[in-house]
Amino acid sequence: MTELLESFEPGLPLQAVAAAPPTARRVWRHARLATLADAAGWGLVERGAIVTEGARIAWLGPEADLPALGAGGVEEHDLGGALVTPGLVDAHTHLVYGGHRAHEFELRLQGASYEDIARAGGGIRSTVAATRAASEDELLAIAGKRLRTLRDGGVTTVEIKSGYGLSLEDEGKCLRVARRLGDTGITVRTTSLAAHALPPEFDGRADDYIDAVCQWLPQWHAQGLVDAVDAFCERIAFSPAQVERVFAAAAALGLPVKLHAEQLSDSGGAQLAARFEALSCDHVEWLSDAGVAAMRDAGSVAMLLPGAFHFLRETKLPPIAALREAGVPLAVSTDHNPGTSPTLSLPLMIHLACVDFRLTPEEAVRGATVNAARALGLADRGTLAAGQRADFALWSHAHPRELAYWFGHDACLGTVVAGVMTPPCAPGTALPPPRGTRAGQGRPVAGPARKSP
Ligand code: NIG
Ligand code: FE
Repeated sequence: MTELLESFEPGLPLQAVAAAPPTARRVWRHARLATLADAAGWGLVERGAIVTEGARIAWLGPEADLPALGAGGVEEHDLGGALVTPGLVDAHTHLVYGGHRAHEFELRLQGASYEDIARAGGGIRSTVAATRAASEDELLAIAGKRLRTLRDGGVTTVEIKSGYGLSLEDEGKCLRVARRLGDTGITVRTTSLAAHALPPEFDGRADDYIDAVCQWLPQWHAQGLVDAVDAFCERIAFSPAQVERVFAAAAALGLPVKLHAEQLSDSGGAQLAARFEALSCDHVEWLSDAGVAAMRDAGSVAMLLPGAFHFLRETKLPPIAALREAGVPLAVSTDHNPGTSPTLSLPLMIHLACVDFRLTPEEAVRGATVNAARALGLADRGTLAAGQRADFALWSHAHPRELAYWFGHDACLGTVVAGVMTPPCAPGTALPPPRGTRAGQGRPVAGPARKSP
């Protein structure tokens, strides 16, 4: 009974979404667009429309300017006045793991620190034990539910790290699960985080473990399992010198790197990451001025993770003003993981980034779209513009600033992934009318698809 309860995790299974045929033309009318297409501003288009062709946006603008679409084969969708933003990008997650750590949460509320628990053999190691014990299919089922919850909150692209297997076989298993999640239509970028913690069989032999990771990496890479390489550079994890060896192995394979840097202390991780032109440095609460300058020069994104900051009851704020002044792009993600950020709501992170880190609503929304895409090295999403991937999220808000304002409830009406409406708003399914919009006066948001004559 206990086992059953412990393995239960709420959420709905994720169904695959068939890709739009490359020639399928769809017009999405009656929308309020927030394109984020310029360097600043929301890029609002009132009463807008989008034309998609296959998985790409072919045109967007005021509905009154909709170009003639010619005869035949255009599928029409009435979005009922919904707000449409680029699909959200969750560029830092640890979605694949077994078990959970609610008991450690209780311990921390009683005064134990995250580092105390890790040093006592709990923390990441306890999740490693649960992950090793789970089969690939079990992990796929649990992580699929988590991904569905993320998507139902507007996410259409997700990064998934390994880091709870910590052996050749178990890291491979987790990376394969992440890859298989990409079959659902949502874009999944995989990251090897084998240098996350020292597994028990390497106790006292951290350098040997790093040697092993450097030998395993080419094997996962050869199996097509790795898009990027990450590490945890921290006094309870790996030193800059050890991380450097992992990054050198990544560079030899042509893989981009990113780093869990300056989360609990300043170890100069950002400067190290900059030498490898890291896509992003993540957490960065303890980032120094030298770290900010190194990130600016390397073009790295500052990945802010307000969920972990909140959950660990941290008080040291990332140097937002210095990052802003240096022109370092700010991104926001969930950092979903069982130890420091068990959240599956990216909109909630947008809210926390404003309240706790003092981002403006526009900065926070850019952080979860265009700058998060940049943190993954993806230039074809995160904005709404012709040529971009047809990934968007529909909201019951009148203005995009409301994405940062409301918190703790789901205002996402559904997503379009690569030009296809995902199941909650499948054509033919009437959605609840959005508040305060024209559709709120009784029209269905997504009416049955109809072919034009
Ligand atoms: O991003 N900091 C390291 N990794 C995770 C936490 C992992 C865990 O506690 O399970 C993070 O916060
Ligand atoms: Fe993380």
